[in-house]
Amino acid sequence: MSATTPLDVARIQADFPILKRQVNGKRLVYLDSASSSQKPQAVLDAMDRAYRESYANVHRGVYTIAEEATAAFEAARGKVAGFVHAREPREIVFTRNATESINLVAYTWARANLKAGDVIVLSHLEHHANVVPWHILAAERGLELRWIPLTADQRLDLTDLDRLLNGAKLLAITAMSNVVGTIVDVPLLVAAARAAGAHVLVDACQAVPQIPVDVTAWNADFVAFSSHKMLGPTGIGALWARAELLEAMPPFLGGGEMIRDVTTEGFSTNDIPWKFEAGTPAIVEAVGMGAAVDYLQAIGMDAVREHERALTEYTLAALRDRFGDRLHLYGPPNADDRGGAISFLFDGIHAHDVSQVVDEEGVCVRAGHHCAKPLMRVLGIPATTRASFGVYNDRADADALVDALVKAESFFSI
Ligand SMILES: Cc1ncc(COP(=O)(O)O)c(C=O)c1O
Repeated sequence: MSATTPLDVARIQADFPILKRQVNGKRLVYLDSASSSQKPQAVLDAMDRAYRESYANVHRGVYTIAEEATAAFEAARGKVAGFVHAREPREIVFTRNATESINLVAYTWARANLKAGDVIVLSHLEHHANVVPWHILAAERGLELRWIPLTADQRLDLTDLDRLLNGAKLLAITAMSNVVGTIVDVPLLVAAARAAGAHVLVDACQAVPQIPVDVTAWNADFVAFSSHKMLGPTGIGALWARAELLEAMPPFLGGGEMIRDVTTEGFSTNDIPWKFEAGTPAIVEAVGMGAAVDYLQAIGMDAVREHERALTEYTLAALRDRFGDRLHLYGPPNADDRGGAISFLFDGIHAHDVSQVVDEEGVCVRAGHHCAKPLMRVLGIPATTRASFGVYNDRADADALVDALVKAESFFSI
């Protein structure tokens, strides 16, 4: 056990081959997990084995390795379902990523159910993945988008929630900000949306890798997330939705896999979830995502959450101590209210310049708008530098960030 967090981080670090490499002659300090996480050996091995030993297309062949590939693919769905507490595996639709999961809802459920004048409620925290699909639909259908504003420390300002939800058909909301870390009270918002008669989509892209997520307890309608942020491979994500809702929705993409029958006159759709999985799916990536679930479950999501919270608390305090008012820290001041993403900005130094200088010290942080331009506009800035944590980060990484920032600050000689 580490002295600083409930995780044995040294042992976890040994599971991530990339952490053994050096960058610019320095130890790699990877602080960009909110963008995409690194992958443990167990995920790489599971994918390698799938390609080497039982690779074939799924759901079609009756020969042995095709059956093995299908079993591994569907077992991965079962693991993902169990991880987020879906009632059954068929409530998990495999997609390319959270962006595609949200677009699936926009192109199917929303186009079948929303008409001119209908209202969708979003928040100023949202990632573009949970903004642009609704702008496209709003322009096409003549919908109204309403926005939940933020408090001064970038929590949702719920003062006017009832008025915003009045007459709304959909609340589409993040569970955790990828920019400022804010944890959103999903059950409270779901209850308010339900009382107003609205459906709820939760963007859980940041939440699923960091906090225990129970989609059934959340009682939302749709939950979207990506494998690559939760220690799994790129190219696969998931949409959870209640089975009855998926049954009632029209299909998304058309092609193989998603049909029951096709004639020259038309087609009928497959059962859920395959009705929404047209074409050859990301078979080996699904296996990798399942292995990532196994890895996170072996650690325990309560321990992961406490680790992220404690490391965020430590880093916020270290940044405040070292830089005081010269460094603007965004998001809720208390680590209890936030996940492991810390956005900051030095007075008079551009976010990108900071990230370039700390890279010379081996520290990987992201600079930019983080695909959240509405939030940047509210903050009145074009960009922040963001450090974000995964299960493999520890206090030494936070210290390396602070030391690298000291160098950046003196380089730009404030
Ligand atoms: C909160 C949030 N939503 C959605 C996305 C989009 O995820 P993806 O690029 O995997 O589709 C991200 C990615 O950064 C995110 O942080």
